[in-house]
Amino acid sequence: MNDVEDGTAHYSIAFPRRWWYPACPSRRLGHRPVCVTLMNTPLALFRDAAGAARAVIDRCPHRNVPLSRGRVTDDGCIECAYHGWRFDGTGRCNGVPGLSEGSGASSSTRDLPSHHTREQDGFVWIWGEQGSVPDREPLAIPTPEGSGANSGEVVFEYDLACTLHAALENALDVPHTAYLHRGIFRGGEAREITAERRDLQDAIEVEYRGEPVGLGRIRGRQNSGLVFEHWDRFFMPSTAQVEYRVPGWFHIINTILHLPLSEFSTRAWFKVRYSSRVPAALLRPIVWARGLQILRQDARMLAMQTDTIRRFGGERYTSTELDVIGNAVWRMLRQAERAEAVTPEGSRARAEETPDPGAAQRVRFRI
Ligand code: FES
Ligand SMILES: [Fe+2]
Repeated sequence: MNDVEDGTAHYSIAFPRRWWYPACPSRRLGHRPVCVTLMNTPLALFRDAAGAARAVIDRCPHRNVPLSRGRVTDDGCIECAYHGWRFDGTGRCNGVPGLSEGSGASSSTRDLPSHHTREQDGFVWIWGEQGSVPDREPLAIPTPEGSGANSGEVVFEYDLACTLHAALENALDVPHTAYLHRGIFRGGEAREITAERRDLQDAIEVEYRGEPVGLGRIRGRQNSGLVFEHWDRFFMPSTAQVEYRVPGWFHIINTILHLPLSEFSTRAWFKVRYSSRVPAALLRPIVWARGLQILRQDARMLAMQTDTIRRFGGERYTSTELDVIGNAVWRMLRQAERAEAVTPEGSRARAEETPDPGAAQRVRFRI
């Protein structure tokens, strides 16, 4: 019997809309429109005459042709490829070729829904709710201390075949790094470390203490006293952040921006910023190679997870206190979605009866 037949079907899918989502790197949005799907809705992104990013629904109200297949006019409007209707950055239709003045020409029925946008840290951000005015700014991406030849940045982009929640949990899950990524990232002799979770406003932070400095199977001597400072963070609605620091030696912040394309498809940008005593030119190929290896292993595992969930018609989880953050992330996403819903019953999420072992706040484990 699968989860649908026994009535327990559940998916950790929540789409809170009154938040900022990353749409694409700024450099990808040039003179041509770009289509980006946000929570099942295709949007056409383009730059207006001032160069500002704009986002409108990617469907011409006339005959349903995608506006992203059209062009941007010299005065910064998006023009449909079929009959040439034109729309400004707010979605207002300001031109219908061939339609004479006065013949009922101006009509708001031809206008398009639009989304507010921002451009920050090399990314175009979209406010998730059509037409509404943002009440906050996108999350700022931090930079490690140090600069110049000893600091650098690598950005990976990857489409993951999984829910937003699964992608976030994976990015912030420490135990799998010692198993799935053993030899690349962790996997030396196990040591006991402590994780302490702090629930913050629209965010969660977990601080890990006591992990000896090392890479892959190579670990510092037990008594060298050199340990990583390590924080994992979740920021509503779709950012994960992993920070490691060895004061005076090394500092890396991996900020992972997620764009929920649809229920089981999530685009992720891994923006890895680092500084160290080693020149960035030497470190960069290592970050690239190891990053890609790790990413492929994660993507493969997440795709298998999704495939199984779909074959069984639902998810089931059994957590221990090592699952420090995943349940809390889900709860925040679901609560945010429900807070926005007109009727709480309208939410797709089913109440989660199981307790959250990760809520213990302070956990010791061997890694
Ligand atoms: S379909 Fe877009 S102008 Fe006709
Ligand atoms: Fe991983």
